[in-house]
Amino acid sequence: MAVPRTGGLGPRLEDDGTAIRAMADADAPALLALRLANRERLGAVEPLRPAAFFTLRGQEDAVRWLSHAWRDGTRYGFVILAREEVIGGLTVDNVVRGAWQNATLGYWLDAAAEGQGHATRAVGLAARFAFEHVGLHRLQAAVMVANTRSAGVLRRAGFRPEGRAERYLCIAGRWEDHDLYARTAED
Ligand SMILES: CC(C)(COP(=O)(O)OP(=O)(O)OC[C@H]1O[C@@H](n2cnc3c(N)ncnc32)[C@H](O)[C@@H]1OP(=O)(O)O)[C@@H](O)C(=O)NCCC(=O)NCCS
Repeated sequence: MAVPRTGGLGPRLEDDGTAIRAMADADAPALLALRLANRERLGAVEPLRPAAFFTLRGQEDAVRWLSHAWRDGTRYGFVILAREEVIGGLTVDNVVRGAWQNATLGYWLDAAAEGQGHATRAVGLAARFAFEHVGLHRLQAAVMVANTRSAGVLRRAGFRPEGRAERYLCIAGRWEDHDLYARTAED
């Protein structure tokens, strides 16, 4: 599927065959195809989505919403690319300034793109973006206790485990315990 090389917002960052760039309107069809193909496995680790999210209109709306937020500096939505194909998504979200200078990180890959290090490299690029381009001091991620693949990504990308937060996020309709990980600019 033809997708634009840059998202028009922000930098395109690359590491050894993996790239991240801002989500663009033209990505909506590719994102929809991935969302439909991975609906069940992503549904197990994400908040409940309305049915409209799984339509082209819903994906276009989601991309547009993220583009507005990018301009406001409150959240940054990326696609993850391999050989110019969209293989997943990543967000640097919940940006708080003041004394915290913190954001939260979320990411997912198409099942067919797992096991090649794309998520590890994309998370490393997101940290570079957060610290060098946005000027944040801290990036944190929360992982459901059983999500060992995601914990592996964070450890490989240099995030430190900080402990368990009980009933931290509402995932698939239930308040789930999560393990917190973080990296600061000094790391
Ligand atoms: C979480 C998720 C992104 C992890 O994907 P992943 O493929 O395990 O992670 P990576 O792309 O970094 O690949 C790592 C694997 O590739 C292997 N690998 C191969 N080449 C590699 C390289 N050059 N660098 C790093 N790892 C490499 C690693 O050894 C590892 O394999 P292992 O799982 O057998 O240990 C994916 O499982 C997913 O989308 N899950 C659903 C959504 C989700 O849980 N999101 C996170 C919520 S907190």
